[in-house]
Amino acid sequence: MTAEAIVVARGISKSFGSIRAVDEISFQVTLRECYGFLGPNGAGKTTAIRMVSCHIPLTSGILNVFGLDVSQHSREIKAMVGVAPQDNNLDPDLNVIENLVVYSRYFDIPRREAERRSRELLEFMSIDERRKEQVTRLSGGMQRRLIVARALINDPKLLILDEPTTGLDPQARHLIWQRLRELKRKGVTMILTTHYMEEAEQLCDRVAVMDSGKILVEGPPRELIERYAGRDVFEVRRAEDNRVLLRLQGLEFGFERAGDTIYIFSRDGDEIGRRLLSIRELEVLHRRANLEDVFLRLTGRELRD
Ligand SMILES: Nc1ncnc2c1ncn2[C@@H]1O[C@H](COP(=O)(O)OP(=O)(O)OP(=O)(O)O)[C@@H](O)[C@H]1O
Ligand SMILES: [Mg+2]
Repeated sequence: MTAEAIVVARGISKSFGSIRAVDEISFQVTLRECYGFLGPNGAGKTTAIRMVSCHIPLTSGILNVFGLDVSQHSREIKAMVGVAPQDNNLDPDLNVIENLVVYSRYFDIPRREAERRSRELLEFMSIDERRKEQVTRLSGGMQRRLIVARALINDPKLLILDEPTTGLDPQARHLIWQRLRELKRKGVTMILTTHYMEEAEQLCDRVAVMDSGKILVEGPPRELIERYAGRDVFEVRRAEDNRVLLRLQGLEFGFERAGDTIYIFSRDGDEIGRRLLSIRELEVLHRRANLEDVFLRLTGRELRD
């Protein structure tokens, strides 16, 4: 393990009865890095990060956080980690600020200090004016911001966020992104899961794409995009394969057909673009390749649930 490795997972697995939710995955998260887990519903993302946050024990493998073995040092690790779970598990009987103050007891933070910190965090997440409100009356976006504020109450060195912005409007999502970037600049290491590929591209230094409990690929978003989707994507709608693909003979490209669309992936799409333009009445969308292309190419387009 290098000095900078905050999380080191070697061949970790988790089974629930006969379900192998996480299947011998290995990864490292280094200091100040933002590491993302991507993958379809049921891929094993939540299970993987719940092992890191010491909320569920491993079935097998080795997992160290801050150089400590999770099976023996969960208390020490939990003291240094902040967790925003996938579901909003706020206490509905408490108001906004009480949710933070009561939560701070897990970390033995003195009451006055907890109150001071709670106000600061509520301001940081732009919900301070609602601090006396019952949490059940908050919008989804506010509840999510409160969950992130709560995850920060113990001033964590490692922040674990399970789908921090799912279901939020663009305003709330961008606010959370800004705050997470600020925390990153301050030196907080992060692990997050997301179904929003733009979120992963915006925030993550590296991502792992998971499916069926395995990590399929791992790397910086830009590198994965170049490697698995190229640079240019042409979406050709309502076309017969032959007509399009015959025209592109002799060029190097990958393609995929899904529903009414042929996706053409290329590292240098200039010539492809010219030839497609020469086919009359073709509806073509030309765009840059993105992480969503990588995700769909690796995990397929079949529905999971
Ligand atoms: N406590 C549990 N008991 C039984 N099965 C579980 C439990 N938790 C997760 N699973 C199963 O493990 C697999 C992985 O689930 P997990 O929640 O880790 O996926 P995920 O990648 O987070 O999915 P999503 O994107 O839907 O949140 C799924 O098949 C799920 O049904
Ligand atoms: Mg999940």
